[in-house]
Amino acid sequence: MQDRDSGSCWFTIIKMEKEYIIELKNVVKRFPVGDGLFTALNQIDLRFEKGEFSGLVGPSGSGKTTLLNIIGSLDSPTEGNALVLGKDISKLTHKESALLRNHHIGFIFQVVNLLPVYTIFENVEFALLLQKYTASERKKAVMEALEWVGLEKIADKKPDKLSGGEGQRVAIARAMVKRPEILLADEPTANLDAANAHAILQTMVKLNQELNTTFIFSTHDEKVMKYLNRIIHLRDGKVESDDLIKSKENVPGT
Ligand SMILES: Nc1ncnc2c1ncn2[C@@H]1O[C@H](COP(=O)(O)OP(=O)(O)O)[C@@H](O)[C@H]1O
Ligand SMILES: [Mg+2]
Repeated sequence: MQDRDSGSCWFTIIKMEKEYIIELKNVVKRFPVGDGLFTALNQIDLRFEKGEFSGLVGPSGSGKTTLLNIIGSLDSPTEGNALVLGKDISKLTHKESALLRNHHIGFIFQVVNLLPVYTIFENVEFALLLQKYTASERKKAVMEALEWVGLEKIADKKPDKLSGGEGQRVAIARAMVKRPEILLADEPTANLDAANAHAILQTMVKLNQELNTTFIFSTHDEKVMKYLNRIIHLRDGKVESDDLIKSKENVPGT
């Protein structure tokens, strides 16, 4: 370890202190297919800083979901390292990776999957039941999350009456209620019309800015791309390009 008071290693220290919330180093993912192996991700090197609003963009089959699953510690790389909040996810026990997901990572999927017999409030509250909150703390957190997405007035309704856009807003509240550091959204606008897609994205931009949550989308939706601050193009399991969109405010039309 270098001496921190030594001027000679100042630049080294600055470099070291840059905080990456996610680091993917040479990540390879192979799946068994027939008698052989299919390479779904091929030597992915990517780093994400806290508070990024970024997207994995690429055609179907390019590896977007596989990569999100690895970042979310739902799956492990075949080779290489995936560090999430400083933890190498391949080295975590089953329990440790569940803890990482339950406390620090929120997921939003293309299909919302709300539990139909429970109210909207209860669907969001489920995300907190694995944590040590009292009922009144849960109520406060759930109502706040429903306010973020504008659904606090229908908290007691069952999800069967919701439109697709409202369902996806409940999914955002469910993913954000535990205030995760990382929010992974796999094609979240795929089943939404344009107006709902923009409303959802504006909500996510607001949460990104207010809570400094790191967002990573997978998408091939042009509407989503307009909001992103960083676009990572994947093709055949490889990073084809990685561009920061610095000059743009990520709220089009405002
Ligand atoms: N469990 C699996 N077993 C075999 N092949 C898989 C598995 N998961 C994904 N793949 C393959 O890996 C490639 C990338 O898939 P995926 O990450 O789902 O792509 P995308 O999300 O970009 O559409 C695809 O060719 C897919 O068929
Ligand atoms: Mg996918």
